[in-house]
Amino acid sequence: MAKPEVLIFENTQLLVEAFTQHFIKLIMEKPRDFSVALSGGSTPKVWFEHLAKNHQDDIPWNKVHFYWGDERCVPPEDDESNYGMTKKYLLDRIDIPKENIHRAQGELAPKEASDVYAKDICKNLRVDKVPVFDLVILGMGDDGHTASIFPHQIDLWNSKDFCVVATHPVSGQQRVSLSGKVINAARSIAFLVTGANKAEKVREILSNEKVAATYPASLVDPDKLTWFLDGSAASEINQNA
Ligand code: 6PG
Repeated sequence: MAKPEVLIFENTQLLVEAFTQHFIKLIMEKPRDFSVALSGGSTPKVWFEHLAKNHQDDIPWNKVHFYWGDERCVPPEDDESNYGMTKKYLLDRIDIPKENIHRAQGELAPKEASDVYAKDICKNLRVDKVPVFDLVILGMGDDGHTASIFPHQIDLWNSKDFCVVATHPVSGQQRVSLSGKVINAARSIAFLVTGANKAEKVREILSNEKVAATYPASLVDPDKLTWFLDGSAASEINQNA
């Protein structure tokens, strides 16, 4: 079984600084447009803040195309919107053409939002059999979910569709999510995972424990994957393993 790259940082700020250098390197390696699918949740907020404060001018934002790995089925101005959070912390603070922003329209009915988003992705990204992102950035929940594919709906990972409608197991909130075949088709994938509450799942996944097979986060292709972990999230793994 291939092993992913695992990078561990003392704290979230050092993690986002290192991830930013990784992000810039990937962008500069591409002669033309660079497509990235963002994750939601709290971890990316720290990264967005860092980009907006320190990298307004040294990243060619005109060649970066933002998509989302998942979106909550709410209007863009809703506090729950991943696009809305990104707009507040990053998009409104950098000079990026509006046509470079490809949000899932959470205000639509979920199935329609999923179908429209899949069409937009296919219209813009090379599609051999599956649209190919240059980079997919993922978080991981403390239940082992990633994007918005949760353990109770792990079968959605293998959907034949490029985008699926998922349901949060506690709130029942509906969400649009990239499916596993689109996530794993990406040229590069990165997990940004922080916090002690993730440590057990990180250990179970990275040490291939049997239970990990029930976590969608364990299904990400290790060949293309780099884990960016803070010390708390990495606290249960043997760093010499
Ligand atoms: C979302 C995210 C989700 C998130 C994880 C981790 O829409 O909530 O895409 O998959 O990445 O829940 O979130 P934290 O970074 O807040 O722990």
